Amino acid sequence: RIAEINGLISGRLRIAAVTTAEYFVPDLLGPFSAAHQGVEIELAIENRDRVVGRLTQGMDDLAVMMMPPDDLPLDRMQFQINPLVIIASSKHALVNKTVDLSDLSNERWLMREPGSGTRMAAEQHFTKHNFKPNVVMSLGSNEAIKHSVAAGLGIAVLSQLAVQPALWPGRYAAAATSQNSVPLDSSALLQAGLGIMQVKDFPILRHWSVVWRKDNPLSATARHFLDYLQTSQAQPSS
Ligand code: PGA
Repeated sequence: RIAEINGLISGRLRIAAVTTAEYFVPDLLGPFSAAHQGVEIELAIENRDRVVGRLTQGMDDLAVMMMPPDDLPLDRMQFQINPLVIIASSKHALVNKTVDLSDLSNERWLMREPGSGTRMAAEQHFTKHNFKPNVVMSLGSNEAIKHSVAAGLGIAVLSQLAVQPALWPGRYAAAATSQNSVPLDSSALLQAGLGIMQVKDFPILRHWSVVWRKDNPLSATARHFLDYLQTSQAQPSS
């Protein structure tokens, strides 16, 4: 299936990525694909539960996710922070104020669907801080959440990358590696009708990982991709 002749690699690279990773995985794959034209890439985008299901069945070479499961034999490489922020309509009265989570108990909360890693991370954080959100709606995609929040239907926890994908890779990677935070770009947010709320104990700081099954030898193509990922993340572009 895989051939490596005179440094040229070919074969298939199967990657599963959680939906929030769709904002940057294509940017990672682009240069790799251009440099290895003999490699056919298959990218599946699913929520966390479905990516875990694919990992359980060994369907992919690699998976990109924020919260790898503990009950599978996995190796992993962590490669960027993933701050989860609270977004509101840009017209929301609290958008430019610093507030406590408890000040948001009467808000209408929009959540991703059960099975989403974003939802799981938010729920864990809420439980840790003894907070019970008033959840009025579950939505099956980040884009549906963004549009509903901009329309004033409620507030939500979302990866900062989902609301500011333009920061990837240059400013995001540089800032994330040096300061463990990601700069805000208010003008792009405003254009989308959104604001990021300044809430104590936020953002939730998680990381992106690429994971693979320990019990399934990595293909030469997947190893090349991991090397490429490690090198490109070590040298963020500007
Ligand atoms: P998801 O992604 O909310 O799309 O499932 C987040 C994650 O699991 O990393």
